[in-house]
Amino acid sequence: MTIIFRYCIYHSFKMQLTRVASFLVRGHSVSRSGAVLIKNSYCVSAVRDSTALLYRRHGEPSQAVQLESLHLTQVGPESVLVKMLAAPINPSDLNMIQGTYALLPELPAVGGNEGVGQVMEVGDKVKALKVGDWVIPRDAGVGTWRTAAVLKADDLVTLPKDIPVLSAATLGVNPCTAFRMLTDFEELKPGDTVIQNAANSGVGQAVIQIAAAKGIQTINVIRDRPDLQHLSDRLTALGATHVITEETLRRPEIKELFKSCPRPKLALNGVGGKSATELLRHLHGGSMVTYGGMAKQPVTVPVSALIFKDVKIRGFWVTQWKRDNKHDEDALRSMLDELCVLIRAGKLSAPACTEVSLQDFRKALENAMKPYVSTKQVFVM
Ligand SMILES: NC(=O)c1ccc[n+]([C@@H]2O[C@H](COP(=O)([O-])OP(=O)(O)OC[C@H]3O[C@@H](n4cnc5c(N)ncnc54)[C@H](OP(=O)(O)O)[C@@H]3O)[C@@H](O)[C@H]2O)c1
Repeated sequence: MTIIFRYCIYHSFKMQLTRVASFLVRGHSVSRSGAVLIKNSYCVSAVRDSTALLYRRHGEPSQAVQLESLHLTQVGPESVLVKMLAAPINPSDLNMIQGTYALLPELPAVGGNEGVGQVMEVGDKVKALKVGDWVIPRDAGVGTWRTAAVLKADDLVTLPKDIPVLSAATLGVNPCTAFRMLTDFEELKPGDTVIQNAANSGVGQAVIQIAAAKGIQTINVIRDRPDLQHLSDRLTALGATHVITEETLRRPEIKELFKSCPRPKLALNGVGGKSATELLRHLHGGSMVTYGGMAKQPVTVPVSALIFKDVKIRGFWVTQWKRDNKHDEDALRSMLDELCVLIRAGKLSAPACTEVSLQDFRKALENAMKPYVSTKQVFVM
């Protein structure tokens, strides 16, 4: 006898947001996300509405974004219905809403570029996904700040369900960026050194952990703050070799540090401005890779870095990497698999997160823009 295994998620805690119209139940269990997973049941019909954080104009995120109810389209043959579980607020999401990012969706648009969801219904022609799978967007621009969405199956990639939901929700952008930057620019061996600014950022925390897992030392530059020791201890616990402030990086005594660790081969710049120039001073050859510009200041390169040290000035954008590797399924899959191995081994944890509901979006968006917060706002649906 053929048994049709279909799963239907019944999100009991926030039912006012997500309506499950009708279903037949044969047993249920609680998933990692806290949602009640009803197994072996046949979904006659599933979620038809979604609550979304939408913006109709560019502007200040906490003002431009609205919580709205959207009617979901039918699941077509090549699409799937996804119930979102968790989705972070990243700086690029804020820049998109502000209208300052390199990639801008047509308006109105749902905010959010990354997050993890669970497949609830699949179209007839979908082969790569099944009901119950955890999925993340393959590319930017999907709009993840919503309770549910009907998406093209080809735009999604599966993740194993044995990793924490917050790790899954934050895996596709920052750890992938960290992984590529540590892999694609310089040949790094155990014992080599990498220097980075914004070391407490999501990317920075992933760099620390992935580097530590490979035996690579990290010099981690952060901005001074009242709770500096607490943050420094947290980054050290993640595997940071050295944690120093921007001010310490500028002092002559910094030379002492290089008596105990080799000069960096790679500098990772997520800030720009003076901070980037200071990183460059410590490269004798090697590459500086700019991936972010949190200070909104241009990068100034001293001519001596180019003439006498032949430092390579490079850039990286994970979205471009994913697009360039769109037809090489193994490239993305093998990176995600490697990162999941680190997660399961306890060597790569999600960034420090503050979980918020979609309803609390204004506060969350404001907090995401504040300096010295050191925790990522994550919508949990
Ligand atoms: N190119 C890519 O593919 C790629 C991929 C992922 C992320 N990014 C970029 O990388 C950057 C970090 O992203 P994330 O998600 O990791 O960030 P995040 O977790 O939100 O952390 C933001 C970081 O930026 C620092 N910061 C904020 N304003 C600053 C300023 N004026 N000067 C110096 N540092 C400042 C914060 O330090 P404090 O704690 O001191 O405020 C914190 O370390 C963003 O620019 C993002 O767009 C790029």
